Amino acid sequence: MGILDRFDMHGQVAIITGAGTGLGKEMALSLADAGCDIVGVGRRREPIEEVGGLIRAKGRRYLGCHGTDVTNSAQVNAMVAAAVKEMGHVDVLINNAGGGPAGRGKTLPELTDEDWREGMDSNITSAFFCSRAIVPHMLERGGGRIINVTSGWGFRGGRNNFMYSIAKGGVVQLTKALAITYAQGNIRTACIAPGTFPPADNMERVAARGATQPSGRVGFPPEMGPLAVFLASPAADYLSGETVLIDGGAIASGLTPAGVVPRAEG
Ligand SMILES: NC(=O)c1ccc[n+]([C@@H]2O[C@H](COP(=O)([O-])OP(=O)(O)OC[C@H]3O[C@@H](n4cnc5c(N)ncnc54)[C@H](OP(=O)(O)O)[C@@H]3O)[C@@H](O)[C@H]2O)c1
Repeated sequence: MGILDRFDMHGQVAIITGAGTGLGKEMALSLADAGCDIVGVGRRREPIEEVGGLIRAKGRRYLGCHGTDVTNSAQVNAMVAAAVKEMGHVDVLINNAGGGPAGRGKTLPELTDEDWREGMDSNITSAFFCSRAIVPHMLERGGGRIINVTSGWGFRGGRNNFMYSIAKGGVVQLTKALAITYAQGNIRTACIAPGTFPPADNMERVAARGATQPSGRVGFPPEMGPLAVFLASPAADYLSGETVLIDGGAIASGLTPAGVVPRAEG
């Protein structure tokens, strides 16, 4: 077997939450390039169907699960059941859906119960629900891979940045807990910590964000794909419980990038 054969994912099936846009879309396309069939999950129909068209054009099977809110455990359970039924089996789960809009710009006293729950639910409860739903199937099949997506904010404190950094720190710990609990069930768990990967729709903003980075530039979303393929593939069979930073050296610099910290005083 050649070294590149270890990255081959033909015959495998991956569920990717938030597959319709941004980093989730890039990971879905890269896994499909490596031979993997894809289950794309999200709430909106359009992005989930659009990425499905691109994946089918690569010759892969695709199941679009739009209308699935990963903060709703009943919807998550139904999505996993549909994935197993339609695709036959699931080998990989990528818990990518999430983001930072909940309570953005508010100080601590201004944050509502709903802000707190929204931020925690979308970034950590969602990964817990999806992992809980897929683990029995993976154990029955003799193993699988779960890849979580955290953020540089899972490692640093952020002024007036509560739910996002707290939840993303929890994602790192969820990765370790799953890895240790299911090591003997052959379920490998890993986590990706992206730095700054803004959409390329506003190049002025992209350049300004890049100037805050040690590398002098932001990450480009397609740069996430090869890391996701590595972690999902047999090439990473002895890697578990670990979080891999992909941030151009931002965390290594030990500094919070200027201009990224929310400015409001609490
Ligand atoms: N981009 C960055 O710079 C960066 C940096 C660090 C970490 N991250 C992390 O990387 C992940 C992807 O970020 P991104 O920048 O690619 O964001 P994005 O483009 O906003 O994509 C997020 C995706 O998740 C889906 N989603 C969000 N909440 C959901 C829910 N409750 N149920 C189902 N689907 C949901 C969205 O689709 P619907 O709205 O249709 O549901 C969307 O497709 C996130 O976890 C984010 O925190 C991103």
